[in-house]
Formats: sequence, structure tokens, C-alpha cells
Amino acid sequence: MKILGIDTSCDDTCIALLEVKDSHFKILSNIVSSQAKLHAKYGGVYPFLAKREHQKNLPLVFKKAVKGQDVSEIDLISITSGPGLEPCLWQGINFAKDLAKKLRKPLIPVNHLEAHILVNFINQDRTSIKLPVLCLVVSGGHTQLILMKAIGKYQLIGETRDDAAGECFDKVARILGLGYPGGPIISKLAAKGKKSKIVLPRPMINQKNYDFSFSGLKTAVLYNYRSQSPRIRKSKKYIQEMSFGVQQAIIDVLINKTLKAARDYRVKSVILGGGVTANNELRKQFNKKFKVLVPSKIFCTDNAVMIGIAAFFHRTNIKPLKDIKAEANLRI
Ligand code: KG4
Ligand code: ZN
Repeated sequence: MKILGIDTSCDDTCIALLEVKDSHFKILSNIVSSQAKLHAKYGGVYPFLAKREHQKNLPLVFKKAVKGQDVSEIDLISITSGPGLEPCLWQGINFAKDLAKKLRKPLIPVNHLEAHILVNFINQDRTSIKLPVLCLVVSGGHTQLILMKAIGKYQLIGETRDDAAGECFDKVARILGLGYPGGPIISKLAAKGKKSKIVLPRPMINQKNYDFSFSGLKTAVLYNYRSQSPRIRKSKKYIQEMSFGVQQAIIDVLINKTLKAARDYRVKSVILGGGVTANNELRKQFNKKFKVLVPSKIFCTDNAVMIGIAAFFHRTNIKPLKDIKAEANLRI
């Protein structure tokens, strides 16, 4: 079976083609057209600018994704219906609907957050993922702890009350004048920062619930930054130390809360997903404490392979095209 995956939920135009044989996923193509450079000068994503870029990119990315393939052999088309930026979601949905009509193929709507989880099933021996599973999804828009009782059966047990962890990386990068997206830049600088003398809070780390909060951490960075002289705060040393400090604060909170939830809910496996889980230090420190499943880095950040995989697990969920809509705040 061949599945085409499409994702335009944020600022990357993603299309992938998968072939599934005996539950083994073969990636025929995986195209991610990043708009990061375009948004870098604003320090964040502008939804209508991103939508316009998707409009321009979708036909080109599609052409690349199906190059050398017979499109009539595609069995299913899948598209992210949410959560995400509404104008961007609609751009992808309308493109996918037109394609589904043209090729006369069914269209499967996919939850982007579930896809970040299910990409961990890529060529895993599925019996090695023991249920129940605790999933930590950390991206630019979400930070959630989700209990997975079966594929498709989820219980949200905690989430951020304000900013997502990825958003915190992005906002701190903006304060420090580092560009967008912040996570990869801060992670590189943090590796040079080693120990940091800057004291930063670990919001909600000792609370009994499984919720998160990262906006106070960003504010603490801002206050510290403002309290420094212009010479200090522009210095390499300060920026590296601050990068190290903020990254470690985020990692401490994520690991602490996840391990607490894993113990309390007596889960048998822990799965990570979402852009922030591409962070080297986070992956290293998690695995020192607890054996976690985490996708290879290209499948942590937004991609359409994960959309195709999620669609495979929900392949019977074929909906009439008129019922497929953008759901910017779709929950799991
Ligand atoms: O999952 P994703 O690609 O898009 C959303 O669904 O939001 O996540 C993007 C987020 C951004 O906030 C970005 O700064 C962060 O993931 N990110 C990272 C790293 N790579 C991407 N954060 C920390 N370390 C990284 N290496
Ligand atoms: Zn994502």
C-alpha cells in the first residue's frame, strides 16, 4: 500500500510518500521545505506569510515527492487537520482535497500530535513497545504528557499552562538576538556554554500534577538579560552560559515530570516526540535515567512521514471530503 502524507500545520511544507508492506514502512520520499529563513527576521512564524509560502511550495514539494513514481499507485492521501495555524492548515487541506479528487483516492485527516507519537512505530518491532505507554510531546506549540492505552486511545494527563517548551526556546533566542527557530541555535551554543553561573527557575518542578509552565522561565531570562551591561549581554560567554542555563532548566522540568508520571501511572514504555526532542542533551539525559523511545532527529521535527504513518494506523477512517476541516485547536 502506498500512502502520501502532507503537513502544512506550521512553517514547513512537508510531503512524503511511504510504501507499507507487512507493516514495514519504506520511505520513498520525505521532502521538508523549510520557511525558517523567511521567518527568522521576525523571530517567529507569521501565519499569513506562512500560508502564502505553503501555497507557493505545495505544488513544487509534491512534484519532488512523487518524482519517478506512478501517482495512480497511491492508495491513500493523508493530511494534518490540526492542531496548527488555521490559514496554514487550510492551505494543505485544500491542496489535499484537490489531489484526492483528481486522483480519485481517499483522504485521511490526521492529528499532528498523534503523528509525533506514532512516528516512533516506524519499523519498530511493535511488540517491543509495551502498553500502557507514556508519551511526552514537546514542540513549538505543545508540551503534553499523554497516556496511550492503545493506538488511538489516549488520555491527556498534563500540559503546559502557558508557553510550550519549544516556544520558550524560540522566545529566549529572540531575547538574545539569535534568530529562529531558537531550539537548534540554543542547543549549539549551550554545548559551548558548559556550566552556567546564571540561576534560573524550574517552574512547577515540585508540584504534584503533571502540568508545565515555561513563560516564567522566559521572563527570568529577560530580567537577567536586562540587568546586564550591553557589553556583557552581547558577549559570547554570556550568551553561551544563558543558552546552557535555559536548556538545562527545560530539560530538568521535562525529565522530572515525565519520570514522575511514568512511575505514578506504572507505564511499561516511554515515548518522546516533537521538535524539542531533537535536542541532543535532552535525549542523552533522558536515556541516562530511563530507557525512552525517541525518533531519529529528522522525524522529531515536523515532517510528513509521521502523517503517513498515523494515516496507516487509521486507514479505515476515510471521511467525505466536505467533512474534513482545519481544526486549529484539535486535542488528542
Ligand atoms: O514539532 P516541531 O517541528 O513543530 C511544531 O509542531 O511546533 O517543533 C518545533 C519546535 C521549535 O520551537 C524549535 O525551536 C524546537 O522545536 N526545536 C528544538 C530543537 N530543534 C527544534 N528545541 C531544542 N533543541 C533542538 N535541537
Ligand atoms: Zn510538530
